[in-house]
Amino acid sequence: MTDVKDEPHGHGHDAGHGAGTEPVDVQDPRLSRFDIVREGARRDDIEILVYESQFTGANSKAEKRVVRNIALLFLLSGAAALAFLIIYIWWPWQFELGHSINDYYTALLGILLGISLFALGFAILAWAKKLLPHEVSIQDRHTSPSSDDDRLITGQTLVYMTEELGVQRRPLLKGAIGLGLAPLGLVAAAPLIGGLIENPHKDAEPMMFRTGFDPAANGGKPVRLTRGDGTPVRPEDVSIGGQITVFPGIPGGATNEYADSPTLLIHLREDDAERARQASENDPRNKGTMWGNYLAYSKICTHAGCPASLYEQQTNRLLCPCHQSQFLITDNARPIFGPASRRLPALPITVDAEGFFVASSDYRETVGPDFWERP
Ligand code: FES
Repeated sequence: MTDVKDEPHGHGHDAGHGAGTEPVDVQDPRLSRFDIVREGARRDDIEILVYESQFTGANSKAEKRVVRNIALLFLLSGAAALAFLIIYIWWPWQFELGHSINDYYTALLGILLGISLFALGFAILAWAKKLLPHEVSIQDRHTSPSSDDDRLITGQTLVYMTEELGVQRRPLLKGAIGLGLAPLGLVAAAPLIGGLIENPHKDAEPMMFRTGFDPAANGGKPVRLTRGDGTPVRPEDVSIGGQITVFPGIPGGATNEYADSPTLLIHLREDDAERARQASENDPRNKGTMWGNYLAYSKICTHAGCPASLYEQQTNRLLCPCHQSQFLITDNARPIFGPASRRLPALPITVDAEGFFVASSDYRETVGPDFWERP
């Protein structure tokens, strides 16, 4: 084992070195904390060869410059996190047709969180690389557990490391860390707390178990099935074996406000339609939901709410891309593969006097995944 060659800056005391495993009094005023650290390291078969500051003299110009840069990075992290919070709370986020500032909501959140985390990462990296003393140590492997004495020494080692981080004697860094990390902590809490602020039951009549196809949302009149741009759909718009996604034809029907309403309108081939009709007529919940060879099922997967919209017209299976659940459309959209355990609810449809598809009532079952409040 090599003796310590370079005395660390400001740590000239040699007591304890080469003292075998004699107990060390960590309260001994003659021992500096570094002496204890070095003794602890020695007992772990670690020889500290080099331990020296990266700067000449305390509070040198170079050190101050590094401290300033790291503080700036912490502050940048905090400023970006604060901007994230402001945008998270006040930026308009609801989907609107056409181009609006709402389109930037998610992008801005992502960019600001990225800047904040990168600045924090760079600050920590710069601190480790540019500010902490250089150390070269050699360690042997050992297998037996540590003694109580060794554990006490390890405690002192940790305190020493905390002191060496130099936060106490660098108030600028202390302030910058506080200002940088506090908003970042709030950012971590924001999505959790934010989701609890809005009460979904606050309306007199909760929308919880109704979708945009409920005639109540349309002044009591049946709601039309419309495309994303609001145009109504006629039977001849969907080719045989084809399908389109439809939304409630009411103001905001294709927006997040009615996020539970997207529906898949499917035009079955004659023989498939016949099988589907028999299956639905034998099931009281789906009886009378088809119109001709057309049927409509909720697009919200009953497993975890993904859009189940990969329709295989040869097999009449509807696939959910998230976890590969498959629903057999000709058998009341019964799940036949994957984690979904409940079938997709059917939307009762018909055609109005002008020849456009309408929902003859709202869904008869609750759409989407199961949850504890579901009736
Ligand atoms: Fe559809 Fe999981 S959300 S299978």
